[in-house]
This record gives sequence, structure tokens and C-alpha cells, in this order.
Amino acid sequence: MAKLLLRHVYKIYPGVGKAKKNAKGEQKKRSGDFVAVRDFNMEINDGEFIVFVGPSGCGKSTTLRMIAGLEEISGGELYIDDQLVNDVDAKDRDIAMVFQSYALYPHLTAYDNIAFGLKMRKVPVPKLNEQGEQVVAIDTKRVRRLTKNLGKLGKQSASLEKALAASRRALETAGEDEREQLEREIGYATDKQALLAKRIERAEADLAYYSTTPVPLVKYVHMSKDEIDTKVKWAAEILGIEELLDSRPSEMSGGQRQRIALGRAMVRGPKAFLLDEPLSNLDAKLRTAMRAEIVKLHNQLKTTFIYVTHDQIEAMTMGTRIVVMKLGVVQQIDTPTNLFDYPENKFVAGFIGTPQMNFFEVDIRREGDDLLVTLQDGQRVLLSLAELRTIEKKYLDGEMHRVWLGIRGENIQLDDQGVQATLTIKEVLGNTTQLFLHLGEGGDDFIVSVAERNALAPGDSVGIKLVERFVHLFDKETEQSIMSREYGNQ
Ligand SMILES: Nc1ncnc2c1ncn2[C@@H]1O[C@H](COP(=O)(O)OP(=O)(O)O)[C@@H](O)[C@H]1O
Ligand SMILES: [Mg+2]
Repeated sequence: MAKLLLRHVYKIYPGVGKAKKNAKGEQKKRSGDFVAVRDFNMEINDGEFIVFVGPSGCGKSTTLRMIAGLEEISGGELYIDDQLVNDVDAKDRDIAMVFQSYALYPHLTAYDNIAFGLKMRKVPVPKLNEQGEQVVAIDTKRVRRLTKNLGKLGKQSASLEKALAASRRALETAGEDEREQLEREIGYATDKQALLAKRIERAEADLAYYSTTPVPLVKYVHMSKDEIDTKVKWAAEILGIEELLDSRPSEMSGGQRQRIALGRAMVRGPKAFLLDEPLSNLDAKLRTAMRAEIVKLHNQLKTTFIYVTHDQIEAMTMGTRIVVMKLGVVQQIDTPTNLFDYPENKFVAGFIGTPQMNFFEVDIRREGDDLLVTLQDGQRVLLSLAELRTIEKKYLDGEMHRVWLGIRGENIQLDDQGVQATLTIKEVLGNTTQLFLHLGEGGDDFIVSVAERNALAPGDSVGIKLVERFVHLFDKETEQSIMSREYGNQ
């Protein structure tokens, strides 16, 4: 069980941008450090089911790998249960990771695949003297480890200092085009230096403590066969794979293999489970079933889960809280319903929910108790300000403002008196009917989802009305929501 805290976490892959020649065309200089994760801040409570979601390449796996300790953290701090773990090895973080590729040993049975990690691993037990009493002494092994780590941090600090001095010197003579990159590099390095100083301070304090204070010692022993057997059987029972324990991976289906991979993580009794797109290799039907099983597993284990997916439906159905990411930047962290009801920007609004939210580029202007909305094709609508969510004051100053208006298809009603659009395609899905509509000249395309069937046909003219309660407004430039979660406007 674990609580996690990510503070200003960055992942920067240095110099992956194109190499650039200088003015004289001689030297090549790397340009454009690639920031895969930018300023990630989040507190994850013990036992939460967190989902990281976003398009491919947005930094989900990188963040997960930094938490697991498989990837160095370039900047910022990661705490597990209040302990700073930037310098703690992956194997000592007590975190289990499950991947899309199950990474099972093909020559081992399911039982041995699950037990493998346990057989390899040694567990701490109290170190006793001949009288059977706990030994309390200076932990020399820990002191050696801390000394070594301190040396490593010192070296890092020295080379960072050197790089920083070089960048500062280069800045003095740098031309216009190099300045920006150099200043950015100096910024990163300065942040990194501050964190390193903090880490060195902590390491020194730890070293001072452990080299002078006797502590209860432990020794590491292999788990007994019986202990391992109990754990494997426990996991197999929860996962419903008892009858598979003698089979090899090649004899199993994808879903069964994924269960074995989960079992292997479970028996370790980790503080947290990190799952990176674990269901991507399964077909749609099995994926839905496994989705429910993983949620059930979480309910049983009550351990912290962090689950990565690019599929917003998976995110919405599984997460207690969801982190929506785009291009390395967290867009919103919220519950599924809040993401759906109160997206904080246009990207989140468009990413969550199917069919996708409709967006109209419109001009808004306050007219007394109403908001006058002018669509791209010139049609106008009056929306009642009392029924809209509260809009930022500066947009209601009586002037015209260009914004994005977002509304989901199920929140648009048919109304002969309303805005006129032309039906292009009609899809009857059974429970709902999707109408693909097109506004007049220069206007947007949008989808309306109605519950009832109807006799409309492509080419027909259709009147529509926006339901005020469900209207979202986003600034045209920043694409940030300009509405609060409350209703009514003064
Ligand atoms: N070792 C690396 N070196 C350089 N760039 C990398 C490396 N690993 C990942 N990236 C880049 O970082 C970005 C985020 O990758 P990743 O976290 O795998 O995305 P996701 O899991 O959200 O699809 C991608 O643009 C990817 O190309
Ligand atoms: Mg990934």
C-alpha cells in the first residue's frame, strides 16, 4: 500500500533535436532537448486507481517508468510513502509493473512464471545472535551503500557544475538564435542543481545517522517453498487460473497469459501496481472482460494502481481519478464524471466521450439576460445566461468575443424554430440515432444524437437547439474553459 507524490517531475531527453551548424558552418551543436514530461505534479492516495490517458507519445509510459525507477528523473521529486526515492533503485521501490507484452518465460509453467520472482528474491528477517536476541549494531552495509551513493551524487554535481559554467560562458558570446536554447539549458541545469544539493544534504544526514547510531539488523534469506506455494495458490485463486498452473505460455490464450503476468506481480505484495497498456494485445471482447477483472482485482487487493492507456473508454470505466496528458503536459486530473462534465480545456473536452464533443467557432456578446451567439454561417442564437454555467466576467463586457462553443451530440435537441442545418448522413444505431449535420455556408459540421427514430433523410433541413446547461465555452486562443462549475451569471 502506498501513497505517491510527484513534485515538478520532468523527463528531458537531451539533444535529440536535429544537430545544428553554427554561423561559420563548422561545429555541430545539438539543439532542442526533448521534454517528454513537463512539470508533472500529483498526489496519489493509498489505494487509488489512477489512470494516465492521452494520445500515443504524450509521456504516459515515461512517467510510469520514472515512478518504477526504470527511467531516471531529470528534474523534480518523487516520494513513495513520504520517502524521497529519486535515488532508490527500481528493485528497492517495491513496485510491480505489468506490461502489454506479458514478458513470461516460455519454457516455464504458469506456476514457475508466477513463482520466479519470489524464488530469486531474498526477504529480510531479523538478525539474531546465539541467544536468539535481535542484534543491534552499526549497519555497515547501509553505511557503505550511502557512501557510494553520496560519491555518485557528488560526481553528478561536479559535472553539472562544469556544464553550467560552460553554458554561461557560451551565453556571453552567443548569437540571437542560440541564446534561447542556452538560457533554457541553464534553466534546467539550475533546477537540477538545486535538487541535487537537496539530495546530497539528505544523503549526508542519513550517512551521519547510520554511521553513528546502532540499529536493529536484518539478514536476507530465500523464501521457503511452502511460503512461495501459499502465495502462488493465493494469486491463482483470485485470478481464477488454478487449472492453468501446469501449462506453459504457448498453450494459453492472451487473456490467460495476462492473468499470469498479473499473478507474478501480485505475489510480490508490492506497494503499488503499475500497468502499461496491459490489455492492448487482446481482442475487443476480451479487453472489456479483463477491464472488469482488473477493477475487481483492485477492489480485492486495495493497493494503489496506476494504469496507462490511450483509450478514453478504458480510462473512464476504470479510474477513480484520471490524468489526461498531451505532449508531456498534464491537462487535467479529475474524476471521470468531472472530466466529462467540466473539461478544463478544449483538448480534454474533445478527448473524453464518444462521439466526440461538437465544437463551433463562434462570436459571443452579452445582450441583457442573454448571450448572443453568432455561428460561422451567420446564424444567431440567444442562450439564457441564467441557465448557462458562470462565464468569466471579462467575456460579458458587452463586447464581441471569439470563442469555441462545445456541446455533446446528446445535448442538442431537434427544434423546428432553432438553428437550421442540413442532414448529410444518418446512422441508426438502434438505441440512438446519429444525425451528421452541416451548418450553412462556411459553417461547422456536427453530430446530434437523438433517442427516438425519425423519418429524416440526407438533404433534409433540420432545426436544432442547444441545451444551455450543457454548453461549454473555451477561449479561442488559449483553449482554456472560461466557465466555472456553478450555474448562473450576474
Ligand atoms: N529514450 C528516449 N529517447 C528520446 N525520446 C524518447 C525516449 N523514450 C521516449 N521518448 C519520447 O518521449 C515521448 C513520450 O514517450 P512515451 O512516454 O513512451 O509516450 P506514451 O507512453 O504516452 O505513448 C515520445 O515522443 C517518445 O518518442
Ligand atoms: Mg506508452
